[in-house]
Amino acid sequence: MKSDWNPESWKSKPIKQWVEYPDPAAFESVVQEISTLPPLVTSGEIAQLRKELAAAEDGEYFVLQGGDCSETFDACSPDRITSKLKILLLMSYILIYGSRKRVIRLGRIAGQYAKPRSKDMETKDGVTLPSYRGPLINSPEFTAEARTPDPKNMLRGYAHAAMTLNFMRSLIAGGFADMHHPEYWELGFVNLSEHSREYRHIFQSISTSINFMEIVAGTMDALAETRFYCSHEGLHLPYEMAQTRRVPRREEWFNLTTHFPWIGERTRQLDGAHVEFFRGIANPIGVKVGPTMQPEELIELTKVLNPRNEKGRLCLICRFGASQIEEKLPPLVEAVLREKRNLLWMSDPMHGNTHSTANGLKTRSFDDILSELLCAMRILDREGTHLGGIHFELTGENVTECTGGARGLTEADLVKDYQTEVDPRLNYEQSMEMALLIAERQASYRR
Ligand code: PEP
Ligand code: CO
Repeated sequence: MKSDWNPESWKSKPIKQWVEYPDPAAFESVVQEISTLPPLVTSGEIAQLRKELAAAEDGEYFVLQGGDCSETFDACSPDRITSKLKILLLMSYILIYGSRKRVIRLGRIAGQYAKPRSKDMETKDGVTLPSYRGPLINSPEFTAEARTPDPKNMLRGYAHAAMTLNFMRSLIAGGFADMHHPEYWELGFVNLSEHSREYRHIFQSISTSINFMEIVAGTMDALAETRFYCSHEGLHLPYEMAQTRRVPRREEWFNLTTHFPWIGERTRQLDGAHVEFFRGIANPIGVKVGPTMQPEELIELTKVLNPRNEKGRLCLICRFGASQIEEKLPPLVEAVLREKRNLLWMSDPMHGNTHSTANGLKTRSFDDILSELLCAMRILDREGTHLGGIHFELTGENVTECTGGARGLTEADLVKDYQTEVDPRLNYEQSMEMALLIAERQASYRR
């Protein structure tokens, strides 16, 4: 055990993205209350995920991480949870087909409620108020009351995460039956694509395999074994700390708000509070890595976060942007290989590819996203290692937030159903298509 670490040791370090609560006593009492409530996940599940991620480093699994940029409490509804599970499950089938590996499904779900912001304050029509930081902290309406941090939001966040997890666990335990049959897969977009023949071939193969499994197993109960993990950015440390515990018969401390917390691009300073908190928890963790990361700094960070250089502990979630990845990724890969640091390379092709339209909507293009992903696969393969997973902002509904894809959504189409409060997500069809294109590339790497 690290003797100089405890769940509160981050408090003595400089912290980014911090918020001040007007009533410190109310804040302390909420943190205390959350620390007495049951954990959202168990240490056994976390240990299992670590084992699978270690195997992913050896090329036995591929990771699919995805979900909302910022979950809302409204997203805790039966339809939205079902559609999120459905899209992630279907994408995982496609990726299993492409990679011939088992897929670790990791939702950005059941707790993705806190958002880092590039500006602390927002000004509209001459009025300046604190920025919206996600439902764990404040509310999006542009009023002083809504934007004031309310500690009760942490309790609401805990409760909504628990309700979301409860429903997800039931859906999975029940076999999630409909999802195994292509007639429910809503494949209207396939005919619109120039790749429709290849897409149809993939779906046909998956369908045949599922039928085969059903016959062999006699039932689809085998698929009730489907594992599904949750993840969120571990941004709001008082909330993360409140559920960080020791459990009987295990040495380590676990953050039991989620299986896989990650450190965001804005809070990964070596001497900062977030790195301090994360270094002491036993969960597998992610770190977002953007274009400013230097090779020496990265190596130092891997040593702080994974001092025993264990497999399954650390995922680097790279997000450079399609125009920068070719320059920025190779030196980092070379340093990691030279220093023999164990970690899993993942690509987040969303956060380096955001821009605003003329009418002020944040968007991303399907082609930029795909281009960064394929580039990540190519570079890692060329350097003698492999891309171990992908990280998307996506939704199971057909919103219009990103441009492109088989339907050729344009910037003018975005107003039709633009819902996100923070970053633009791939919709159902775009997500399916993205998985198909990656699977095709994975298949070509196997040949
Ligand atoms: C995010 O994942 O929503 C996010 C804010 O990413 P990053 O930290 O990479 O900017
Ligand atoms: Co985002």
